[in-house]
Amino acid sequence: MCGIVGAVADRNIVPILVEGLRRLEYRGYDSCGVAVIHHDGLKRARSVTRVADLDAQVTQEGLTGTTGIAHTRWATHGAPVTSNAHPHFSSGEIALVHNGIIENYEELRVGLKAAGYAFESQTDTEVIAHLIHSLYKGNLFATVQAAVKQLRGAYAIAVVAKGEPHTVVGARAGNPLVAGLGHDGENFLASDALALAGTTDRIIFLEDGDVVEITGNAVKIVDGSGSPTDRPAKVVKAIAGAVDLGPYQHYMQKEIFEQPQSIADTLEGVEGIVPDLFGTDAEGIFGQIDSVHILACGTSYYSGLTARYWLEGIAGIPCQVEIASEYRYRDSVPNPKALIVTISQSGETADTLSALKHAQSLGHAFSLGICNVATSAMVRQTALSYLTRAGTEIGVASTKAFTTQLTALFLLTLVLTKVRGRLTPDAEHLHLRNLRHLPAAITRVLALEPQIIAWSQIFAKKEHALFLGRGLHYPIALEGALKLKEISYIHAEAYPAGELKHGPLALVTADMPVVTVAPNDALIDKLKSNMQEVRARGGELFVFADADCHLASSEGVHVIRLPEHYGALSPILHVVPLQLLAYHTATARGTDVDKPRNLAKSVTVE
Ligand code: M6R
Repeated sequence: MCGIVGAVADRNIVPILVEGLRRLEYRGYDSCGVAVIHHDGLKRARSVTRVADLDAQVTQEGLTGTTGIAHTRWATHGAPVTSNAHPHFSSGEIALVHNGIIENYEELRVGLKAAGYAFESQTDTEVIAHLIHSLYKGNLFATVQAAVKQLRGAYAIAVVAKGEPHTVVGARAGNPLVAGLGHDGENFLASDALALAGTTDRIIFLEDGDVVEITGNAVKIVDGSGSPTDRPAKVVKAIAGAVDLGPYQHYMQKEIFEQPQSIADTLEGVEGIVPDLFGTDAEGIFGQIDSVHILACGTSYYSGLTARYWLEGIAGIPCQVEIASEYRYRDSVPNPKALIVTISQSGETADTLSALKHAQSLGHAFSLGICNVATSAMVRQTALSYLTRAGTEIGVASTKAFTTQLTALFLLTLVLTKVRGRLTPDAEHLHLRNLRHLPAAITRVLALEPQIIAWSQIFAKKEHALFLGRGLHYPIALEGALKLKEISYIHAEAYPAGELKHGPLALVTADMPVVTVAPNDALIDKLKSNMQEVRARGGELFVFADADCHLASSEGVHVIRLPEHYGALSPILHVVPLQLLAYHTATARGTDVDKPRNLAKSVTVE
């Protein structure tokens, strides 16, 4: 989704702004732009291609300045054309960039048009620029505080005024914004600390309602009530390492290979199975709940689907899992004794946050967020939380976030099993041992990469693929299909294998590769029968089996064996080769793996 960078310094800040945009590219965008306060007025450059093109433009045009703002836009209101790209100007005096959606932009536009403002774009953003200009009397900080009172919706903005050449003002409500503290008379704004990697690691995370003014020597913040406030600066060390690709070709590949470490980090400090892992109030809350209701989107939804098998099968607690964007718009029957569990890598996904707020408005007081970003809105809005420590995930296709979510959800299952008196000391010991062995087990799965690369050459030539799984591994088949479609653009669908004969079998021909997730569990014999159904129709099977499974390669049946069967935790291993298959198929097709078309990393709009 959209990204913001702003800077004030004594030196030319255009390279810092452009580099910041480059670091935000992973979030997904379709146009970009930069504006600076030049000695003879506001100047800007905009591009509807890539940040690299914007960079070439600013170099060619000699665009320089010591104060400026920049933006990557993911189109919502208006097509991705230059006139809709940010920064937007008002009367040559105000320049503004914006993330989010202004819901009352139409009524504001009518009023501003009546006041004589001419609109050059179809965006909701231009309304804010004109609104600020209409209220401006020489103090941008005060003007933005007044202007945001008229906005409804979600936003993060950064604004400059020609008349105040050493100031950038920002504001946030519903969308993230941080201030970066520089040295020697420079300060920064960004929608994500990552944009400032290599520039500064001293970050102030702004709160909803905050308006901030940055100058070379100061950062001033007022909160939603207009009172001056101090927010602590944190040193965010991880950001520089996150953007360093090391020996990998893409962030997705790097992140797949980081999974042993991110799971180990997610388990750090887990000495035993205790409710406190989820927060100080967890024991009281877990003692009162009678069910679990999971809300999430995309890959995070699939981690929830997997957890349902654990929560019902191991903890014996009823569990429902729902796509967040569906839940918020249906009439549901609230059960105040249900634990609402929201799962999100970013903690900023608009649909998941709205579903959480909807549940809370229906009287759900017990909530738990499983999230990868400590400073996110989700963590602030849930009573309990568990932080997955995957580290920054840059690739749009979620990988290490998924396996760390599963790790956290398995811990939740064990805690609820214990609270319900169903976890024997022996079982606790065994589960903990298996969890701690996961990083080593995944490392062994990653060693299968050369065999998977060989398969990817076949998949790269196909336009469709079917994924099959059963039970606990059906959500893993869903996740494998999602990975393949989002980065290789191959049409992929996943089915519980028993469902094959109820429809999808009609699609199976010699041209249809059928990926089968085949762990050596209680359903393996049923799955083998389903595989026969595929072979009988000429379908070609690509099977991920376990070491101890009696399945051999034969004509039309290709088998890769995972090094060990991993019981209840098997989904965490079985998803890894599917991630690698999607990754290598996409690279063989030459797609933009880390920034697939039309997609954004963090979906902060509905
Ligand atoms: O940040 P979240 O986990 O809330 O994001 C949810 C989905 O947007 C995300 O998982 C998406 O489906 C990924 N692109 C999948 O790889």
